[in-house]
Amino acid sequence: MKPGSRPRRKPHPSGQEEWWRIRRADLLALLAEESPLYVYDAASLDRAAAAVQGLAAVDRVFYSVKANCCPGVLARFYDAGIGFECVSMPELEHVRLFFPDLPGEKLLFTPNFAPRKEYARAFELGAWITLDSLHPLREWPDLCAGRELFLRLDPGNGQGHHPHVRTAGEQSKFGIAPDELDEAARLAEACGARIAGLHAHAGSGIRATGAWAETAAFLGAVAARFPDVRILDVGGGLWVPERAGQSPLDLDEVDATLCRFKESHPGLELWLEPGRFLVAEAGALLARVVQVKRKGEVVYVGLETGMNSLIRPALYGAYHPIVNLTRLDEPATLTAHVVGPICETGDVLGRARRIAPAQEGDVFLIANAGAYGRVMSSWYNLRPPAGERVLGPIEGPG
Ligand code: LLP
Repeated sequence: MKPGSRPRRKPHPSGQEEWWRIRRADLLALLAEESPLYVYDAASLDRAAAAVQGLAAVDRVFYSVKANCCPGVLARFYDAGIGFECVSMPELEHVRLFFPDLPGEKLLFTPNFAPRKEYARAFELGAWITLDSLHPLREWPDLCAGRELFLRLDPGNGQGHHPHVRTAGEQSKFGIAPDELDEAARLAEACGARIAGLHAHAGSGIRATGAWAETAAFLGAVAARFPDVRILDVGGGLWVPERAGQSPLDLDEVDATLCRFKESHPGLELWLEPGRFLVAEAGALLARVVQVKRKGEVVYVGLETGMNSLIRPALYGAYHPIVNLTRLDEPATLTAHVVGPICETGDVLGRARRIAPAQEGDVFLIANAGAYGRVMSSWYNLRPPAGERVLGPIEGPG
């Protein structure tokens, strides 16, 4: 590249410029107040919400709170009329704390190996409840008596971006196996519970556009055995691109396949419970450079936070784009491992990344970090994880 010429930007998969390039000055101003920090772009959250709510085949959307439970993020979805899918009682209570007027029918409780008292509380709140095993029907018939319930089924074929997040198949701890369905029907009848819905979630980060219609077809076939079923919840798992050059999930195609399913099953509602899709691209982790060092052939740029704020690269080998936000317009001439301060060799946020040469105090931005970032953080080494802020929309004229 000629000296002084602007580096060529890699196009974002959506074809639009990433929000954090446009809001760079606001981000740097925020970092001057608090660092490290997760920042969520309200306009991106709203856009993602509108995209899933625009799916013609989907009757109801529940945001999977486990992906990001920042109150300011939840508020955007609350305002958009989206419900909340919770996996634990603390998640249910968290949502209730911020939205005390939320009607119970906008809460969906989908736990895995939860104790009896959590189901009891969820019933009290009027939430929809999904049973992930026969244990509640068998051991707590008094609790289930007279209730409308969902059953979470194992669709048999796990999908997703990493083995840890494939939630179906013999090796996974989730769901009721198809060979237990007769017993499920017997137990439900014995305690006077009605099975109003069937649920399946094959995994997280699914790229195949037909996956949700396949899940619907699987659940639709099972529905014939449960006379009261009127809802099929096809889970979450919608993929979000990680790298430049990857095409986004074709939502129109997802919708078209689900519409075809609905045409052949007119009496059934379809529900969707995405987490990642609604928040991933809206979030960025920002952290300052604390030290730069060369060891042998390798340059390490050390940030003030690492796997204690974002564990996805260490846990799944996940790729997150990284830029030197302070020097965004300078050429990316340095190849370096971007690491954190945690006492583990795996504390690497990005390997062999091309970045603009870094100096102590520069602000680095780790992109696509809105999902499963802060919620999976820890205080390992007693280093506090990054805080959180929602960046409101740019004020228009007038
Ligand atoms: N519904 C159920 C029942 C789930 O288990 C999950 C995610 C979701 C919905 C939302 O899935 P999503 O739309 O976000 O893919 N920590 C991993 C992801 C774990 C997902 C667990 N279950 C990661 O960072 O990739």
